[in-house]
Amino acid sequence: MRVFVTGGAGFIGSHTLVQLMRKGADVLSYDNYCNSSPEALSRVKRLAQSDLAIVEGDICDPGALERAMGDFKPDAVIHFAGLKAVGESAEKPLTYYKNNIAGSIALLEVMNKIGCSKIVFSSSATVYDPDKPFPFTEDTPLKAASTYGRTKHFIEDIIRDWSAATPGSSAAVLRYFNPVGAHASGDIGEDPVGIPNNLLPYISRVAQGSLKELQVFGDCYDTADGTGARDYIHVEDLAGAHLAALEYIAGAKGCETFNIGTGTATTVLAMIRAFEAATEQSVPYRITGPRAGDVSTTVANPSKAEQVLGWKAEHDIEAMCRSVWNWQVRNPNGYRTPE
Ligand code: NAD
Ligand code: UD1
Repeated sequence: MRVFVTGGAGFIGSHTLVQLMRKGADVLSYDNYCNSSPEALSRVKRLAQSDLAIVEGDICDPGALERAMGDFKPDAVIHFAGLKAVGESAEKPLTYYKNNIAGSIALLEVMNKIGCSKIVFSSSATVYDPDKPFPFTEDTPLKAASTYGRTKHFIEDIIRDWSAATPGSSAAVLRYFNPVGAHASGDIGEDPVGIPNNLLPYISRVAQGSLKELQVFGDCYDTADGTGARDYIHVEDLAGAHLAALEYIAGAKGCETFNIGTGTATTVLAMIRAFEAATEQSVPYRITGPRAGDVSTTVANPSKAEQVLGWKAEHDIEAMCRSVWNWQVRNPNGYRTPE
């Protein structure tokens, strides 16, 4: 199978590339490196022990996309490329709408031109209305609370409409919950620029000593210990969901949506304890007020993915913490660490 991967050098893209290449797929990574490093792709090649086609390009550049896709002639596309910082999306809404939505439209148009009609799309649990009861099923009403979340909601609708109008097309929209973790080798992982916003990257910087303490954003939520609870999913499981989705769309028609999570919620304090136990590092923390825009709990009902895709998450929280720490220790400066 020939798979065109937008955003292949990113956190989730790089882990998915390794699994695809190990399965013998012919893969092209199309990325402009606005939030990643080409170094990730060198490591992907080494880990997969196989070669990979690489094109540096922007999804908002239809000419470059058409040249890359026209030459490669993919059977399917996995569309990871997008901007993903919730806070930044409030400050730069037009940048987010242009990059994520206009870029996705350009991608679908080029797919039409070259006759490729199968796509797996990276959506997010942030599309759900956080006030609805959890666990969220794919039918839980949507109401994104951020500009970033709205870009995902709009792209989902665009893909559904495109699929309805495109005979023979098939699309899988994957709504990821909270992706964390790193490849077991410690060679690829999440490499946020500057101070991390997300919990596990922040915890591992505190354990490393480069940040003083974790601020726990609120202990007044209706959860087991009062701190926010999330459905964390290991990036290796998440990568596997893309392989299952590719297999599914190869034989399906229309557009289907899947929650990609574990079905288990972990609180902030439980995550700190799990990290300390898994790594034997201490994580100093201080409870502060809630972070603006945060919700108490998000957790998936992932049973549709299991029934339809035959996919289920396997890694537990301890494995997630261990792999993040392994990546952190081996790469204290992320991909800027000399090997
Ligand atoms: P990431 O930033 O590590 O990877 C995204 C990749 O897309 C980067 O390599 C970036 O350089 C590239 N990119 C961005 N805009 C581009 C453009 N215009 N043209 C070409 N390349 C471009 O993010 P990630 O965590 O790997 O996330 C991948 C996808 O999954 C994103 O669409 C993100 O919104 C979605 N998602 C991520 C999370 C998460 O917590 N990581 C959760 C839900 C959904
Ligand atoms: C955030 C994004 C969401 C995105 C997700 C990706 C916001 C409002 N939402 O969600 O759109 O899909 O990341 O994984 O940014 N926490 C602390 N201290 C910290 C960091 C986090 O206590 O320094 C807590 C949070 O309050 C939350 C939990 O840890 O309860 C997880 O936070 P985070 O990793 O940022 O994920 P989300 O809030 O789910």
